[in-house]
Amino acid sequence: DWTMAEFKAAKIAEIREQVGDGKVICGLSGGVDSAVAAVLIHEAIGDQLTCVFVDHGLMRQGEADQVVSLFRGHYHMPLVHRDVEEMFLSGLAGVTDPELKRKFIGKTFIDVFEEEAKEVGGADFLAQGTLYPDVIESVSFTGGPSVTIKSHHNVGGLPERMNMQLVEPLRELFKDEVRELGRELGLPDAFVGRHPFPGPGLAIRIPGEVTKERCDILRKADAIYLEEIRNAGLYDAIWQAFAVLLPVKTVGVMGDGRTYDNVCGLRAVTSTDGMTADVYPFDASFLTRVATRIVNEVKGINRVVYDYTSKPPGTIEWE
Ligand code: XMP
Repeated sequence: DWTMAEFKAAKIAEIREQVGDGKVICGLSGGVDSAVAAVLIHEAIGDQLTCVFVDHGLMRQGEADQVVSLFRGHYHMPLVHRDVEEMFLSGLAGVTDPELKRKFIGKTFIDVFEEEAKEVGGADFLAQGTLYPDVIESVSFTGGPSVTIKSHHNVGGLPERMNMQLVEPLRELFKDEVRELGRELGLPDAFVGRHPFPGPGLAIRIPGEVTKERCDILRKADAIYLEEIRNAGLYDAIWQAFAVLLPVKTVGVMGDGRTYDNVCGLRAVTSTDGMTADVYPFDASFLTRVATRIVNEVKGINRVVYDYTSKPPGTIEWE
């Protein structure tokens, strides 16, 4: 039985062995996995690592700033922050199919990476925070051979043209182990304990077309929901909680007027690895409070629904 300290030491040796005196480029997504991978690799090879934060504008509220201040301010890591919101939003205009969204985002991510890799002066390795569940879910599920449920944008399909080898030090780990490794590496508890966030970001929480306006509406609703979850002391009991903005308009009434606005879906699940999940059973009074706040405070939403689907048969994300 390995302790996390031993795992860390072994991985650091392995990374040094693989990388030699080569240069590594690592994409930070804002999530825990890529952050832990980056800190681990930085500990192994120091400033041979450059982190690139491809800021696609599909992050949660305040997330981009947190990432930049943690890595530049706290860890003093070389970090390139590319603001490419425009590029992503214009490419996503008119795209409604979930797989096309994922493919576009994955491909564009890699394109931006390739540019940065050249800027850095020819990186030889690309580091990714791929976990064990990502590896198996992207390949197949138990219902049959090689059926892709959703293409994970951080796994596979790296164009040959990038001519870089992959460094994926978390490939054998489940999420709870990544968190333990993160703590072992001294990442702040609040950061390590954050709920998972998918690479394609808010784009897969906005069924239908993704626009800047919709992202802004969703960010506000999501922030209120998470604030209430934290205030109720429930954050750590939940694997993942987030709001979804539906492309469905319904009629409501506010003050003297009729409203005709979008529906917001709320999701919260418990899980140990994201592969199966149960619905989190909030009190009715909690959900009522969140719904009231969202409808009152977020312009563009006039109805809130709660998602009672477990995984399977549902997935955690809506796309
Ligand atoms: P699903 O929706 O497939 O999600 O039940 C399982 C877990 O994976 C996360 N997820 C992703 N993570 N890139 C990621 O890094 C992705 O493309 C992606 N899609 C889903 C999801 O948030 C959940 O934790």
